[in-house]
Amino acid sequence: MKFGYFDDAKREYVITTPRTPYPWINYLGTQGFFSLISNTAGGYCFYKDARLRRITRYRYNNVPIDMGGRYFYINDNGTIWNPGWSPVKTELDSYECRHGMGYTIITGKKDGLKAEVTFFVPQNYDGEVQQVVLTNESSKEKTFKLFSFAEWCLWDAQDDCTNFQRNFSTGRVEVKDSVIYHKTEYRDRRNHYAFYSVNDTIDGYDTDRDSFIGLYNGFNNPEAVLNGKATNSFADGWSPIASHYKEITLAPGETKTLVFILGYVEMPVDEKFEADGKTINKVKALEMIEKYNTPEKVQAGLAELKAAWDKLLGILSVETPNDKVDRMVNIWNQYQCMVTFNLSRSASYFESGIGRGMGFRDSNQDILGFVHQIPDRARERIIDIASTQLQDGGCYHQYQPLTKKGNADIGGDFSDDPLWMILSVSAYIKETGDWSILDEMVPYDNDMSVAETMLKHLDVSFYHIVNNLGPHGLPLAMRADWNDCINLSCYSDTPGESFQTYTNPKFKAEGGYSKIAESIFVATLFTYTGPNYVEILKHLGKTAEAEKAQQAIDKMKENVMKYAFDGDWFLRAYDATGAKMGSKECEEGKIFIEPQGFAVMSEIGKDQGADIKTLNSIDKYLNTKFGLVLNNPCFTKYYIQYGEISTYPGGYKENAGIFTHNNAWIICAEAYAGRGDKAFEYYSKIAPAFTEETSDIHKTEPYVYGQMIGGKDAGSDVGQTGKNFGQGKNSWLTGTAAWNMVAISQYILGIKPEFDGLMVDPSIPQEWDGFKATRQFRGATYNITINNPKHVCKGVVEMTVDGNKVNGNIIPVLAAGTHEVIVTLG
Ligand code: GLC
Ligand code: GLC
Repeated sequence: MKFGYFDDAKREYVITTPRTPYPWINYLGTQGFFSLISNTAGGYCFYKDARLRRITRYRYNNVPIDMGGRYFYINDNGTIWNPGWSPVKTELDSYECRHGMGYTIITGKKDGLKAEVTFFVPQNYDGEVQQVVLTNESSKEKTFKLFSFAEWCLWDAQDDCTNFQRNFSTGRVEVKDSVIYHKTEYRDRRNHYAFYSVNDTIDGYDTDRDSFIGLYNGFNNPEAVLNGKATNSFADGWSPIASHYKEITLAPGETKTLVFILGYVEMPVDEKFEADGKTINKVKALEMIEKYNTPEKVQAGLAELKAAWDKLLGILSVETPNDKVDRMVNIWNQYQCMVTFNLSRSASYFESGIGRGMGFRDSNQDILGFVHQIPDRARERIIDIASTQLQDGGCYHQYQPLTKKGNADIGGDFSDDPLWMILSVSAYIKETGDWSILDEMVPYDNDMSVAETMLKHLDVSFYHIVNNLGPHGLPLAMRADWNDCINLSCYSDTPGESFQTYTNPKFKAEGGYSKIAESIFVATLFTYTGPNYVEILKHLGKTAEAEKAQQAIDKMKENVMKYAFDGDWFLRAYDATGAKMGSKECEEGKIFIEPQGFAVMSEIGKDQGADIKTLNSIDKYLNTKFGLVLNNPCFTKYYIQYGEISTYPGGYKENAGIFTHNNAWIICAEAYAGRGDKAFEYYSKIAPAFTEETSDIHKTEPYVYGQMIGGKDAGSDVGQTGKNFGQGKNSWLTGTAAWNMVAISQYILGIKPEFDGLMVDPSIPQEWDGFKATRQFRGATYNITINNPKHVCKGVVEMTVDGNKVNGNIIPVLAAGTHEVIVTLG
């Protein structure tokens, strides 16, 4: 069942009912000011950091779901409704929500009155513009009342939802003309305020929540709206809000357009106030308002936003025999990559914005799907991330985007972290050819006095693995590897202890984690990632160092084959007792997905057929109709030696859920091994556009990936196996966005930046006759045509560039301009 449709020409998903199986959201803003907006206008805004600089308030886990947002209430002679249906939920005569690239348009109609609201954050602008177009489509004159609504957050979102003894007494506002200013703590230590404006006169306002809503009412029946009149209240403590009130009369056919702006302003300390030393200096706010105070300016702002996305999405576009693939590659997957790049795992409808900042491993992986869009921003991000690395190559696991400092509460010792940086830096160089990033002086732990070159950071990353091996010469598992929930040193039996950061007294003397437990995943990630570092060294003429690194990789492969190949697949780990995890010998969790793909792509044991055996085992034991489960069989009891993983009921999250992120690694591996049909089968099971038809089961947005889909065991814990099989959760902020962008564009379609050019090496479904792609790369544009006359999956037999035959399948770096590339498979 569908709840809308794709409008590819406009690059929109059009939702046709407000009753989606879950709130379906969009993101506005890409640089400083961000908004989350659901299809019923729920959500919130923040500046740069969803935790430290929250602008409007949002209540997670609310009943009913998704209450709180920027709402317009209409009181049309006693009939009260919202253009987005919520929160009043009066049945509308028509409803539509269009989520587009950085904007959302919500249209509702009731009793001949149409209200269309366009929400967007303009380019280089710290505010959300909301254009409300009201049209009287009836044959009679209409007089009605319009109320806007936004609820301020007292800046620090964590404090805002816990520290009520203070917060109920600090809220402060100012009102001047049609602008409501939020200035809690501005008098003292904050040099920023927010405002909510409208480009017209108003007939009243409210700034105190209880006066507007009524202490015992809800968003669905605010007293002021019921009474048809604002109270002109002034918040003084309690909960400041912003609501404009306006009476409007429209002749039949008449339209009125209002522009509201929800903005954020930072002020230099000595210019914060007017001459009286008390009143907010509003100059900057007024300048911002001036920028979008007419419908014409709003149109221009929207056009500019669209042009920016045209440009971004023009860098890579494809035309394949499958319109769902085109839709994902050309529009939605790239769009999601921008969002994950910006927000890491901080703020979504599943991530509260106060839980975590930027993740070291997450952000490095996000770069893989984003780097072609705005390489300069990727470069800056890489440097920021690297600056939180520690001198021994270890890393803070997370950092806050506002301060860019490593988060000491969580600390480090996640065994995979450093490797992802080798991958992101390599991806950056492959995309841009900008080797100078390696010369950049980058601090450790933000301390510039111990800065070293980026190259050295890669070196300490690489050797952090090599220098931390366990008894089998495999990497120590430490607190966790990519799988946050495999915590082999935790042994926690006390509620509330963090599986990732708790240091069990057992391992305290050893430095916090077992020196026995080893991660095969990190081993194979190392053998997959390491060769990039070797190539970099070779390029720089550091032959001896390259050889030394290569030896470490070869040795690791040898050890994996010797100690971690279980006959038909690779083990997951050795636990702290030295027992195998993810082995035939295990009672549960016999096979895990994570190490397999990277092992195959590193060609570990390929000469003995280990790659195909492994891929076949995955198909046999992990494949389901909705994707590949993470492990099988699921854990049905608590294995204290494994940590968090077995705390989830079977079929969810890391315990045999379909964790889409690592499905991508298998898609890559199948494509790498030349099995394009299998790769595509797995891809089409999880790519959102393919799940649209089953949105009732899938629940989350059909235009973006979610972190997890319920596995085949979901429900088994309550004796209803398969109950939530196929149900998506945790949409938007997942490494799947980047990795599936890589999987489809670089492995299946096979257009892959390499250090010395653009490789073309598709691994596609046999039935395809071919496809076309346009790729801008290092200043030139390549129009690539792939022909597949013999209907193979993989194998380039001929390539011409501008009519000239090229040896191999790498397009060399060419001069600016457009180049025609013709590739024949066979
Ligand atoms: C989440 C985390 C990511 C981790 C994964 C598996 O997606 O953001 O860092 O690798 O879960 O545990
Ligand atoms: C990741 C995992 C989640 C785990 C969390 C711990 O997000 O997906 O299951 O609880 O990390 O930080």
